Amino acid sequence: MQKERSKLLIRHQKGSRIAEQFRIIRTNIEFISKKRALKTIMITSTKPQEGKSTIIANLADVMGRQELKVLIIDADLRLPSQHYILGVDNSLGLTDILKEKATIETVIQNTSLFNVDIIAAGQSPNNPSELLSKTVLKDLLETVKKYYDYILIDAPPVIVADTTIVAQKIDGVIMVAEENKTPKQKFQKALNTLKSTNTPILGIILNKTKQEKSSKYYYYNK
Ligand SMILES: Nc1ncnc2c1ncn2[C@@H]1O[C@H](COP(=O)(O)OP(=O)(O)OP(=O)(O)O)[C@@H](O)[C@H]1O
Ligand SMILES: [Mg+2]
Repeated sequence: MQKERSKLLIRHQKGSRIAEQFRIIRTNIEFISKKRALKTIMITSTKPQEGKSTIIANLADVMGRQELKVLIIDADLRLPSQHYILGVDNSLGLTDILKEKATIETVIQNTSLFNVDIIAAGQSPNNPSELLSKTVLKDLLETVKKYYDYILIDAPPVIVADTTIVAQKIDGVIMVAEENKTPKQKFQKALNTLKSTNTPILGIILNKTKQEKSSKYYYYNK
């Protein structure tokens, strides 16, 4: 992804190259979906601030505009940001579902993006790993799969245990790396950690690039 300013990068730039890059990612995901069950997709990366949350919101945007029903789940319970990016309420969220204090219907919110709903993170709990390990999460994902074409799950970096816990419950993972910044060894280590969950790694998005040409999405495992 090319460097741009706004968090919803493509909203005001429908014909832009960056919008085209997100459409390429969407097309690649749809291509893989035709071959195998792929509805719940987590986006993670090696370290903080590489653009995971921004990419989720933008990908949801291009998917929604193509008549796909999308649910974003903010599973970054320690440092949630989807509610900021999409301007929704964070007083109730995934944490409340996992604590069994709220039902799915009361927590799902519409967003201003066409066809995109969200389950925000909710107030940060003091035991996120424990909550995310509960079968309630698996049940939640099974339920929402019936109503949405794609469920995009925001997560912390791989070094946080929560990420591998969530990875074990989903259909595929996309890694984000920052051009010229993500240390190769750490990236490889993160990739190996994810591989150990046996969840397919769908591809790598190279973010914050300066190059002008070519899509920045690489198949990792077709
Ligand atoms: N392609 C891009 N070009 C320019 N800035 C970007 C791009 N992608 C993300 N950013 C900016 O980088 C910062 C980090 O982005 P974001 O919050 O999406 O990262 P993250 O990986 O989700 O971080 P965290 O690990 O804290 O959850 C934000 O200020 C965001 O606006
Ligand atoms: Mg984030």
